[in-house]
Amino acid sequence: NLKIAVIGGGSSYTPELIDGFIKRAHELPVKEIYLVDIEEGKWKLDIVGELAKRMIKKAGLDTEIILTLNRKEAIKNADFVVTQIRVGGLKARAKDEIIPLKYNVIGQETTGPGGFAKAIRTIPVILDICREIEELAPNAWLINFTNPAGIVTEAILRYTNVKAIGLCNVPIGMVKMVAKILNVESSRVKIDFVGLNHLVWGQKVYVDGKDVTRRVIEELCDGASLTMKNIPDLKWDKAFLESLAMIPCPYHRYYYMMEDLIIQEKEAVSSGKGTRAEQVMKIEKELFELYKDPKLDIKPPQLEKRGGAYYSDAAVSLISAIYNDKKEIHTVNVKNNGAVSGLPNDVVIEVNAVVDKTGAHAITLGELSPKIHGLIQEAKAYEQLTVEAAVTGDYGIALQALIMNPLVPSVKVAKQLLKDILNEHEEYLSQF
Ligand code: NAD
Ligand code: G6P
Ligand code: MN
Ligand code: MN
Repeated sequence: NLKIAVIGGGSSYTPELIDGFIKRAHELPVKEIYLVDIEEGKWKLDIVGELAKRMIKKAGLDTEIILTLNRKEAIKNADFVVTQIRVGGLKARAKDEIIPLKYNVIGQETTGPGGFAKAIRTIPVILDICREIEELAPNAWLINFTNPAGIVTEAILRYTNVKAIGLCNVPIGMVKMVAKILNVESSRVKIDFVGLNHLVWGQKVYVDGKDVTRRVIEELCDGASLTMKNIPDLKWDKAFLESLAMIPCPYHRYYYMMEDLIIQEKEAVSSGKGTRAEQVMKIEKELFELYKDPKLDIKPPQLEKRGGAYYSDAAVSLISAIYNDKKEIHTVNVKNNGAVSGLPNDVVIEVNAVVDKTGAHAITLGELSPKIHGLIQEAKAYEQLTVEAAVTGDYGIALQALIMNPLVPSVKVAKQLLKDILNEHEEYLSQF
């Protein structure tokens, strides 16, 4: 009987996760779910925690929901730990999104300099959590949802002994959206994913084992929608997409359509719509008002306004695949271990992996097409340097990380960005 610890339990995504455990209760016997947060998040934890209890009751389960600010109590002897924290909250995210725009650079929470800032704030906290897991629950699996998920997972696997798997809802979201485009059940769709988190390509798409990649590309060229709630649905260039002959993920727009996305972001700010962080602040307010209603006992559909759709499907089905030794394929962030040639073994990639009770094992792909290989290598170098900067607090490494980021144009801009990031987030960056 399982003990689950959710760090950042006050998240508005928690009902999504609880819904996932309810749907899989027949294959996953969960005795206790500890929802843990920090003092600042206590009011959210209380509201969303009570909703979680009502959801469990409504489902007729006897899983116990425990709300606590005591992280060690939550982690002790846990079988699975899920991390979904936001160090600095949405206020810090708003800064990550606005600072780069000053220099005409993409302002986004996970991609570009915003993702760098989020990583260096988050990695020290996550490594603290991992020390507690090493001590109090050494056999636990850590499912890391905390962004930037690929970089954070790489820090965990490099600097701790925790068994960790990084998770993003983009791959499962792409499967569902492609299924919708093709008008088939999503269980019939398989995509060969490879890349990094928020930089993942579908190399081939299959329906019932038949290669339908060309058809999906045609549909996308004809304007079919494939994006996340937090990313503008700009259409792909036809000549580009046809010659790429793969399916880019929604986040690729920041790389392949950089100027257009910068214009969109600036327009959102000047029109008063606000950065995505500011939009999410409003959505969150609505959500927590709904969650307070004692009559609400299911995951409310309004949660779909957030980018994290299908998070519960991804997370709980992954936990079940480990627990039940399913040998199922999941798209996750794991060590490369030779799966992709030309990348070190110990870096984290986002890739299809076979999941069993010993973990997630990346499927070997060998050499990648030069159409995608160079961008992966450059972004990975940025990620490696970011992890090192977060741990050491070394100014020079941080500068090199930003320079290596594909969205940062020059040393001059990198230095300005770094200065602003270190200033604006000083209270979370004691390592520098
Ligand atoms: P949120 O702002 O609601 O934060 C979640 C909780 O974390 C809050 O209740 C907050 O109090 C708590 N928290 C903040 N600092 C903490 C700390 N130092 N220790 C413990 N708890 C802390 O954020 P959210 O919108 O629920 O997102 C949570 C995380 O999940 C973010 O990092 C976000 O980027 C990420 N996310 C990932 C994906 C993915 O695809 N991997 C999708 C959506 C969100
Ligand atoms: C998904 C991504 C997440 C991201 C989130 C943003 O697209 O996979 O990693 O953080 O949505 O959603 P939000 O609603 O917070 O803007
Ligand atoms: Mn993601
Ligand atoms: Mn560059």
